[in-house]
Amino acid sequence: MHPYLNIALIAARKAGDKILQTIDRGETLRITEKQTNDFVTHVDHLSERIILNEIQKAYPQHAILAEESGEKPGEEACWIIDPIDGTANFMRGYPQFAISIGIKVKDKLTLGLIYDPIKQEVFMAEKGRGAYLNDKRIRISPRSKFANAIIAVGMPFPKETKRLQAYTRIVRSIFRECGDIRRGGSAALDLAYVACGRVEAYWELNLKPWDIAAGVLIAAEAGAIVTDTAGKQDFLNNGNVLAATPKLYRDVYRLCCESPAL
Ligand code: IPD
Ligand code: CA
Ligand code: CA
Repeated sequence: MHPYLNIALIAARKAGDKILQTIDRGETLRITEKQTNDFVTHVDHLSERIILNEIQKAYPQHAILAEESGEKPGEEACWIIDPIDGTANFMRGYPQFAISIGIKVKDKLTLGLIYDPIKQEVFMAEKGRGAYLNDKRIRISPRSKFANAIIAVGMPFPKETKRLQAYTRIVRSIFRECGDIRRGGSAALDLAYVACGRVEAYWELNLKPWDIAAGVLIAAEAGAIVTDTAGKQDFLNNGNVLAATPKLYRDVYRLCCESPAL
């Protein structure tokens, strides 16, 4: 395993144990509303501190981009961290959230790790070396019929009228043609689930780099086509992401990205 991934794994497991402890002890969450309907808990901050501490102990010279504490300049590598992806789920005890750590090496997304502490699932990938779930190689879904496909989607935040209308029109058109839709509430796990074939595709807009850095690499390494809504690879900058199996990518792209509603 790449030494950076090893540190990411140690960090994610430590943070995950802390998250589980707070759940087991029924600890009261201290919750702050960062923006309308965008919450952070003291456990998000705690998880991020644990992760940063492990990374900085091992690689003090590396750069950091972390959701709750922001950017720290550095050299050689940049660690892109979401200490809890799916906070709205976590706050309610809805068991769908994860720690996400993506790593750029010399400005190229090279390593990714997503850890779901509830299900004890570690998704990992290194560019060019495939994707793994708990040490077993994973591949995208083999299903080829869009009419039976399950498509994971996000929802439009902030809920501004024009965007909301466009989004709902697209979701309606996807739903009309596909098998079913999922809204899991963790972008990182949505991408990990494309990677291991639990869903056939995933589409969401306006995400942050820490939501998707690890997941886009894991999905691509498992065989998915991953692009932004212009069919390019600029998702870390524009936050728009579409990940699908090669057999179904065209259908999802047509519905999500060529829609006149957008
Ligand atoms: C959120 C989740 C969610 C997505 C939101 C993100 P957070 O991350 O990934 O699935 O729809 O846009 O903000 O806030 O729980 O880290
Ligand atoms: Ca997130
Ligand atoms: Ca988060």
